Amino acid sequence: MLRSFFIYLSKAAWARKIVTGWSFAWRMVSRFVSGEKLEDAIQAAQTMNAKGINVSLDHLGEQTTTPEQARQSTGDIIAALDGIQKSGVRANVSIKLSQIGLVIDPALCIENLTAIVSHARQLNNFVRVDMEDSTVTQVTIDLVRQVRAKGFDNVGIVIQSYLYRSEDDVRKLVDECVFVRLCKGAYKEPASVAFPRKKDVDKSYDRLAQILIEGAVKHSCPKVSPDGRFPPLPGLATHDVRRIEQAKVAAKEASLPKEAMEFQMLYGIRRDLQEQLAAEGYPVRVYVPYGTEWYPYFMRRLAERPANVWFILSNFFRR
Ligand code: FDA
Repeated sequence: MLRSFFIYLSKAAWARKIVTGWSFAWRMVSRFVSGEKLEDAIQAAQTMNAKGINVSLDHLGEQTTTPEQARQSTGDIIAALDGIQKSGVRANVSIKLSQIGLVIDPALCIENLTAIVSHARQLNNFVRVDMEDSTVTQVTIDLVRQVRAKGFDNVGIVIQSYLYRSEDDVRKLVDECVFVRLCKGAYKEPASVAFPRKKDVDKSYDRLAQILIEGAVKHSCPKVSPDGRFPPLPGLATHDVRRIEQAKVAAKEASLPKEAMEFQMLYGIRRDLQEQLAAEGYPVRVYVPYGTEWYPYFMRRLAERPANVWFILSNFFRR
């Protein structure tokens, strides 16, 4: 119930206007977002790197509605790649296709995506394409395949375990040696396309993680790169301890070396677990968002955990 409400709010213009107008909003948002500027994200990456944790920088933004905005976002992502190069942090970038023109025109989107992966390749860096709601799953996979077909293999994708179709997608992507980040899924989806029960989403997560792990062994996929930019093929994005433990067991049974699988988590969530896994010798990557377009990202984080809402309300009344 609460989850659906917050996902609805994440898209509601009226709610965005109210929340972004709150003078104390940033105090709450800063738990999940590293800052408004690229320098803030680079600084957060340096702090993570010092703890042995790699990073993926996300210049926040989605659902751009004009070609100018989409080009501006493309320029901002290219600037992030340059910032990584200049500072020498162990980081790659994560992007959303709706940020660079998908909802305007797929041709514009592929042009912008090609510019980003091409720039990343010149810098020997990697681009992860986030997955948005199920209306764009197929086109997102298609566009990633299209840039890979142009010879850019420095691009990976995200697959969501709540979708029924994902097992089929994962099997095909592994056979094509595409880097996959596996997450549970953060959008509101109908029961016609996604498992409605959390229990089934978790079960699907374990099954898909196992397919990725076995696929990485079968195809002798590379380990995380020494500079921390290129992930291994299986990127397991979750804060769910049970899923993480299951994946560790599956990797051990398949004889996948620790460095050939990475755990990924979000900035500000379960820092203890991030550090614990890094100390155990697993590659860990933290998704570090930054920028002024934090509203929908923040609302999805509230949707995931109702306890965050009480945290927000207590801040409101303490003002
Ligand atoms: P689950 O929701 O079961 O949470 C397990 C535990 O983690 C909770 O009990 C709590 O302790 C902690 N936790 C989880 N969320 C929290 C929060 N918001 N605040 C505080 N604690 C929290 N989704 C998507 O649709 N497309 C994408 O591209 C991505 N990309 C992505 C990258 C990375 C690196 C991560 C970690 C996640 C994503 N996601 C995503 C989001 C993902 O789909 C999912 O919504 C969240 O990760 C929460 O699910 P968990 O797997 O953590 O499990």
